[in-house]
Amino acid sequence: MEQTLSIIKPDAVERNLVENIKNIFIKNNLNIKESKKIHISKEEASEFYKVHQSKSFYNDLCAYLSSGPIVVMILEGDNAIAANRKLMGATNPKDAEENTIRKLYGISIDKNSVHGSDSIDNAKKEIEFFFKD
Ligand code: CMP
Repeated sequence: MEQTLSIIKPDAVERNLVENIKNIFIKNNLNIKESKKIHISKEEASEFYKVHQSKSFYNDLCAYLSSGPIVVMILEGDNAIAANRKLMGATNPKDAEENTIRKLYGISIDKNSVHGSDSIDNAKKEIEFFFKD
């Protein structure tokens, strides 16, 4: 059984899409082991996304993730990391496949509704970041 971190971003929380997105995970055999709604600071967002610190979009990305409430979850299931990434679709909603979360709900490459860990190492780090206790 693998675990991954999922974030429902401010654009989706604001539009009341949390239950719709959670239902997609549940229907696709990803168990939501933990879930909490939080509002992080820009400093916390900068720490979370520090892998992107050299990118031109880093500042806007951190400002955005801290702009409103988010829902962070631990998803669990067979190949949970890859399964979640398939359900999310491409980073840019314009490029995402039909029926993926970002195609259904994403607004733009910034407001793309969800984040998911991209590797076993990052899943461990990202879960630890939000669920330390
Ligand atoms: P996410 O999966 O949360 O990881 C980093 C985020 O940076 C990504 O989703 C996008 O929302 C955001 N982002 C903004 N611009 C870009 C870009 N040009 N390439 C990749 N990610 C970008």
